[in-house]
Amino acid sequence: MRISLTVNGEHHEADLWGGESLLAVLRDTLELPGSKNACEQGECGSCSVLLDGELVCSCLVLGAQADGHEVVTVEGLAEGDALHPVQQAFVDAGAVQCGFCTPGLVVAVTDLLARTPHPGDDEIREALSGNLCRCTGYAKIFDAVQLAAERR
Ligand code: FES
Ligand code: FES
Repeated sequence: MRISLTVNGEHHEADLWGGESLLAVLRDTLELPGSKNACEQGECGSCSVLLDGELVCSCLVLGAQADGHEVVTVEGLAEGDALHPVQQAFVDAGAVQCGFCTPGLVVAVTDLLARTPHPGDDEIREALSGNLCRCTGYAKIFDAVQLAAERR
């Protein structure tokens, strides 16, 4: 089947088979590898994107469900060479180690701060509970969220 969708403000068309995930469409067809494929089971959040402004695990969304809809991936957050403020906060707080979880976390934190500009610790924990990181122990990620919130 053929779908058309908007990704990071650009119109795209893609051919896919019925069971193909949005994550596969983004990475393999549209060559946007920022959304990571770690579990493909909705457990890790590394594939997080915004679908019509809603935070979703793109591995759990069928590509067909994105037909006619708007997707924002981590590639759509930076403006040219300038990092998005959340990306910059992750760098400045030292919240990136292997970096595999980082794109999903950046998208999730961007979503959180859009909804809750100055979240408390519990709100941060709740918002990021679907994003797993095997490296950082999460403390630096918390620091990055707070830094990004302070800078808003
Ligand atoms: S790859 Fe989608 S939640 Fe892990
Ligand atoms: S930095 Fe390695 S999984 Fe999070």
